[in-house]
Amino acid sequence: MENQVTIFNHPLIQHKLTYMRDEKTGSKLFRELVSEVSMLMCYEATRDLPLKEVEVKTPIKTTKSKVIAGRKLAFVPILRAGLGMLDAMLEMVPAAKVGHIGLYRDEKTHEPVEYYNKLPVDIAERDVFVLDPMLATGGSAVDAINIIKKSKPRSIKFLCIIAAPEGIKELTEAHPDVQVYCAAKDECLDKNCYIVPGLGDAGDRIFGTK
Ligand code: PRP
Ligand code: URA
Repeated sequence: MENQVTIFNHPLIQHKLTYMRDEKTGSKLFRELVSEVSMLMCYEATRDLPLKEVEVKTPIKTTKSKVIAGRKLAFVPILRAGLGMLDAMLEMVPAAKVGHIGLYRDEKTHEPVEYYNKLPVDIAERDVFVLDPMLATGGSAVDAINIIKKSKPRSIKFLCIIAAPEGIKELTEAHPDVQVYCAAKDECLDKNCYIVPGLGDAGDRIFGTK
């Protein structure tokens, strides 16, 4: 499990995360922070993209330089809260295609319920990055990845901002082939399956619905 999970301890990420956790942070700033943290996480999570050498003519001379070696990416936010991470990822990789998976957690059972699913038709040729700020019980992430795996993508990475130990265990056991990236591993879940200390309900904080 150790090699499967990367926790970003970069000072910029940790700093921004503190303001995301603060209950006094309103939706506008919260959205901006989700975007900024996602951009920094994208930078790290794409570190292993293969490069190839090309020739480029600078104003001074022709030289060899590197570009990404034709890997095709797809970003799949889990609705709703995953949408908060999408624009930042697309700013970094504008050629990526986007799929959407709609899941909500049943308030009583905390089990995910699927309500939407639209993936790029050529997802089998793509490396997929699943986006969701919160990994709590892990049920939503596991189900979303089950759905995506039916289309046989080249690889899957899961990017979240805060993960509970319970969610990390559930996800890594269900999908040992999926690399998991998060900005923080928190303490535990509470009786309502919210992450402690967490940041509350990510969807509500992004969209101002509570
Ligand atoms: C949140 C979050 C994850 C899920 C995590 O979504 O964005 O998708 O809960 O919990 P889990 O790991 O226990 O499955 P929620 O169900 O609140 O839906 P929303 O984004 O539409 O608010
Ligand atoms: N979903 C959230 O948005 N927050 C949590 O703490 C757990 C699930």
